[in-house]
Amino acid sequence: MERAKRNAVVAIALVVLAVAAARVEAQQESEVKTLVKHKNGKKYCDKGWECKGWSIYCCNLTITDYFQTYQFENLFSKRNSPVAHAVGFWDYRSFIAAAALFEPLGFGTTGNKTTQMMEVAAFLGHVGSKTSCGYGVATGGPLAWGLCYNHEMSPMQSYCDDYFKFTYPCTPGADYYGRGAIPIFWNYNYGAVGEALKVDLLSHPEYIEQNATLAFQAAIWRWMTPIKKYQPSAHDAFVGNWKPTKNDTLENRVPGFGTTMNILYGDGVCGQGDVDTMNNIVSHYLYYLDLLGVTRDQAGPHEHLTCAEQVPFNPSSKAASST
Ligand SMILES: *[C@@H]1O[C@H](CO)[C@@H](O)[C@H](O)[C@H]1NC(C)=O
Ligand SMILES: *[C@@H]1O[C@H](CO)[C@@H](O)[C@H](O)[C@H]1NC(C)=O
Ligand SMILES: *[C@@H]1O[C@H](CO)[C@@H](O)[C@H](O)[C@H]1NC(C)=O
Ligand SMILES: *[C@@H]1O[C@H](CO)[C@@H](O)[C@H](O)[C@H]1NC(C)=O
Repeated sequence: MERAKRNAVVAIALVVLAVAAARVEAQQESEVKTLVKHKNGKKYCDKGWECKGWSIYCCNLTITDYFQTYQFENLFSKRNSPVAHAVGFWDYRSFIAAAALFEPLGFGTTGNKTTQMMEVAAFLGHVGSKTSCGYGVATGGPLAWGLCYNHEMSPMQSYCDDYFKFTYPCTPGADYYGRGAIPIFWNYNYGAVGEALKVDLLSHPEYIEQNATLAFQAAIWRWMTPIKKYQPSAHDAFVGNWKPTKNDTLENRVPGFGTTMNILYGDGVCGQGDVDTMNNIVSHYLYYLDLLGVTRDQAGPHEHLTCAEQVPFNPSSKAASST
């Protein structure tokens, strides 16, 4: 009787072990295995953590397939030097963790490998130029200093716009100064990003300068999301999903890197001719293409690369709602 019981316990224990082992195996497999299904003549894939959920984009390479730690280190080689302002904050893992949320939607997974690498270079070109502390005489050249900052250094105001007091009310004591990889300013922008990422950034805008994954998520969300309905996102304008209207063509807005600047910064950067603020962003993009081994002629002709002659999508007189 006793022995039969003991044997039964041993048998159960063995079964449990076997089940656990099978589970581990399945997990390891799912890290490398692409699940595939076909529906209505289209192919959908799921690649586990980096490209999760059935998506046509997950059938392609994912970002870690063509963009690795050493490349991130090359692009942002000075970010941890002692004079940088966000030492130890930004890293490759946080970028990849953030990107994973958007790869099923096409971020870095659209088109062939060259297009994919170009999109990562373009997105990071914006990031690098907006977080750089490299000036003309900086060691390694001015372009080596991307991800030097993670927030605005001397904010002159708290960026609370009362016009949005019902939709995105400011939290007493909170400041909505520039933070992040493509810096976010103003309560309404913190509010919109927070809503999308399901993080209460109106109460805690400081999260963006405390958590690099969140900071990258916010920046990629901005890249992937139109500013206004019926306008393209920077992603769509860059990868060619967007088809310009007649008006767009008349106003020199063509698919390419130039239009991503138009979308993200409007007349702060575009339609001003060959100005430094614009050229600085373009230079970061081209520098990153070089470092990733993508030849510059892939970036297209000058008028696709810049927005010098483009009419802004959202002129600031109209965009600034209350000032
Ligand atoms: C996947 O990659 C192929 C070629 O590498 C490309 O033609 C195709 O457009 C890509 N799929 C998507 C959904 O972008
Ligand atoms: C990748 O796609 C781009 C845009 O569609 C195209 O111009 C380029 O020739 C393609 N490159 C390769 C290697 O197929
Ligand atoms: C940072 O943000 C990410 C994305 O929202 C979240 O998953 C993670 O838990 C956060 N890390 C910490 C330490 O709060
Ligand atoms: C085209 O541009 C003109 C002038 O900027 C504007 O009045 C008009 O509404 C635009 N049309 C469309 C369809 O956007």
